[in-house]
Amino acid sequence: NRQSEAVFVIFGSTGDLAKRKLFPSLYNLYVKGLLSNKFAVIGLGRREWNDETLRGVVQEALEESNQQLDKVDSFLTHFSYLSFDVTNKDSYKGLKQEIENKEKDFQLPGNRIFYMAMAPEFFGQIAQSIHNYGLKETNGWTRLVIEKPFGTDLQTAKVLNNEIREAFAEDEIYRIDHYLGKEMVQNIQVIRFANAMFAPLWNNRHIANVQITSSEKLGVEGRGGYYEKSGALRDMVQNHMLQMVSLLAMDVPLQLTTDEIRSEKIKVLRALRLITNDNIDDTVVRAQYDEGTINGQQVPSYVEEDNVDPQSHTETYVAAKLMIDNHVWAGVPFYIRTGKRMAVKSTKIVVEFKEMPLNLYAKEHKATGPNLLIIHIQPDEGITIVLNGKKIGSADTTPVHLEYRHDSEDRINTPEAYERLLYDCMMGDATNFAHWDEVSLSWSLVDAISNAWKESARKPVNYRAGTMGPKEADQLLAGENHAWWPVEEM
Ligand code: BG6
Repeated sequence: NRQSEAVFVIFGSTGDLAKRKLFPSLYNLYVKGLLSNKFAVIGLGRREWNDETLRGVVQEALEESNQQLDKVDSFLTHFSYLSFDVTNKDSYKGLKQEIENKEKDFQLPGNRIFYMAMAPEFFGQIAQSIHNYGLKETNGWTRLVIEKPFGTDLQTAKVLNNEIREAFAEDEIYRIDHYLGKEMVQNIQVIRFANAMFAPLWNNRHIANVQITSSEKLGVEGRGGYYEKSGALRDMVQNHMLQMVSLLAMDVPLQLTTDEIRSEKIKVLRALRLITNDNIDDTVVRAQYDEGTINGQQVPSYVEEDNVDPQSHTETYVAAKLMIDNHVWAGVPFYIRTGKRMAVKSTKIVVEFKEMPLNLYAKEHKATGPNLLIIHIQPDEGITIVLNGKKIGSADTTPVHLEYRHDSEDRINTPEAYERLLYDCMMGDATNFAHWDEVSLSWSLVDAISNAWKESARKPVNYRAGTMGPKEADQLLAGENHAWWPVEEM
C-alpha cells in the first residue's frame, strides 16, 4: 500500500506523548502489516540524543506497553534522530537533507507527515518554516498533524490557524482530537444511522435529554502549570465533550464522506445556544476538588497540588446544560459533565427517551421508567438498552437491561485511538479530525462561558475528591425534572 510509504517527522519525539502513544501506535500498525516496510521516522527534539538514544527510548516504550516484541529490532531500524532548534534555519536545512536521505534509503515516494507533538507556542512558526525552507517540495503529499491545545481561546486559535494556513491547505491539516479515534465514539454514527429502531426516534419528539459524562480519577498529575491556565473547560469541553455532542446531535449526512459529515457536525455547533452573563448561573456549574479519598488513599485538594495557586479559581469540573436551537432538538437539554478526581474513570452517554403519553402500567402505579440507550465509551465498550419488562412470576414490572459489550480489555492506556488516527492520516482520511470551523465555533462557546465567569463574582464550588461532583450539578437537572443517571454503577 503506497499510501503508507511515508516519512514521519515527529517534532517533540523526546516527550511523553511520543513515548506513550505515538511509538506504540506505529509499532502496532507495523505488526499488523498496515505500515509497509517502506517508512522512516525522524525524531526531533532539543536534546542532544542520537539514533541509538531514540531507538532505546522507543524500545522502552514498547516494552512498557506490553506489545509482542518479536518485530522490534526490524522496526527500530526505521528510526533516526536529529537534535533540532525550531527557531534555527540550519536545523530545517539539516532536516530537509535527512528526509531526502531516508527517502532514498527506503525508496519512498516523497510522502511526508509532520507531526507536532510538542509545546504549542511553536506550532505556527514550525509550519511556516517547513514551507519556507522547502520541506513541502516533494513529488508525494505532505500533511501536518497538530496536537491540542489548538489555541487557548478563539483569538489565539485564529492566529495559529492563519499561520499554519499560510503553509498548509485545510485538507493537509489534521487536528487531533483523540476522542474521535475511540472505538465507541466512532460507533455513535453507526448506531444512529444504521438502525431503524433509533433513526426515527432521534429527535425532540421522543428524546427527553442526553447526558454525557467523562469522569477521571486522576488529578492534574504534575501538569499543574498547564492546567491552571486551561481548567476542565478548555482541557475537555472545548474539544472532546463538544465533539461527542455534535456526533450525537448531527443530522444524517448525505453520504459518509468527510465533507458531508463535517458539515453536519458544524451545523450543530452553530445551533448551540450561546451562554451569557444572564443565563450562566442556570446553565453551567464550575467546581474544584477538595481533598478526599481515591482508591482508599487520602488525596489533597486541587489548590494544594504542585504549581497551582493556593487561591486558584481554576475549575477541575464542569457541568453544563447545552441547548441546540434547531428544529430537531429544540427543548432537549444535552447535559455534559467532566472532571478530575471523581469517583470513577468513565465515559458514558445516556440517551433518555420520553415517557409514553399514556402508559397503562405507570397508571397502575407499577414501577416503570424511561427507556434508555447507554453508550459505553470507556473503560468498557458497548451499549445497553433499558426497557420495561415483566417481573418473572409477578404482575409487577421491572427494568430489563439488554447488554452488548465487545471484547474490550481495559483500553484506557492503550494507544488504539492514536493508532486509528495515524492510520487515517496516512490514508488521507480527515473525517475523524477537527475542521477549523469546528474548532472556531467551539472556542466561541468556551470563550462566552469563560468571559461570563470572569465577570461574575461567583467562585467555583467545591466537591470532595472521589465523588461524582457537586450538588449544584444535580440542581442543574432538577430544574428540568431530570436527574443524572448513575454512570458510576453502570
Ligand atoms: C486529554 C486531557 O485531552 O484527555 C487530559 O488533556 C485528560 O487532561 C485526557 O486526562 C482524557 O483522555 P482519556 O482518553 O483518558 O479519556
